[in-house]
Amino acid sequence: MPFPESRLRRLRRTPALRRAFAETRIDPAQLVLPVFVKDGVQGAQPIGSMPGVAQHDVASAVDLARQAVDVGVGGIILFGIPATKDAQGSGGWDPQGPVPRAARALREALGDDLVLWADVCQCEYTDHGHCGPLDARGQVVNDAAVEAYVRDALAYADAGVDVVAPSGMMDGQVAAIRAGLDAKGFEEVALVAYAAKYASAFYGPFREAAESTMQGGDRASHQMDPANRREAMLELAADADEGADVLMVKPALAYLDVIADAREVFDLPIAAYQVSGEYAMLHAAAERGWIDGPRAMREAVTSIRRAGADLVLTYAAIELATGAGA
Ligand code: PBG
Repeated sequence: MPFPESRLRRLRRTPALRRAFAETRIDPAQLVLPVFVKDGVQGAQPIGSMPGVAQHDVASAVDLARQAVDVGVGGIILFGIPATKDAQGSGGWDPQGPVPRAARALREALGDDLVLWADVCQCEYTDHGHCGPLDARGQVVNDAAVEAYVRDALAYADAGVDVVAPSGMMDGQVAAIRAGLDAKGFEEVALVAYAAKYASAFYGPFREAAESTMQGGDRASHQMDPANRREAMLELAADADEGADVLMVKPALAYLDVIADAREVFDLPIAAYQVSGEYAMLHAAAERGWIDGPRAMREAVTSIRRAGADLVLTYAAIELATGAGA
């Protein structure tokens, strides 16, 4: 029926009507909050480029996680910053490192009410800031990095995480970690693969937060080229075949087409990571009074959900869960 019988505005007239007909919702249970734990800090140390985000000691990480659980946030993902770094990144698998120590304390404080993830990568642990040991040309050695990730994942599983999430974009990392976990009796630890992860400028503020700034070079030899859409399906299929339980696309806002493709092609849950730069640019514009920050944040995360992501990793998880800016 054409206009004037059809009037699409009818269902938009009041807030209650709009709520009733919203096709997409942000359920707090589908949000995952990234949490940075650092050796040797006291309390929470704010990160300049990410307003509202901090590096935490273990007690402060527990407080933050409790707050997240209380408002229904679906989980937290830990990133660790060690006291000392070396060329191999041996702090990554240290059972007394920041992630295992925090994981044990979180599990003790919050039990199974908390869905606890650990990011698995070496870039926070190497003194050169790359995602694994380097060859003579300064490129990450794939298979040696994968060996390190298996050791990392075992240390985090042993500390009680529910989920390990390898983010290094090395070939074969998912299969190796799955096999490593299963061989040690951790067959119930889930594996979320950062499957289509792009070499992105939007990771800038994270490198301040995680103190993983590279001493030269870039990540273009292992992370994906932003120009490529079909290739993402190859990466996702490889990780699905290798035994990933969940497939992730990262970043989110500039890759909504990839999220939509992933949703279309795969039946596994799809996660998307609204990364540090996505968060920081909305805050920066809001601070200047150029946009309504909370509304823009909600709109961005809604679009990520609408594109097809089941789960969204976002630094705004608590604000979104409590309805700020709704
Ligand atoms: C580790 C890792 C990065 C991010 C998540 N895991 C940084 C990178 O790949 O350089 C980025 C997260 C963000 O920007 O919020 N490899």
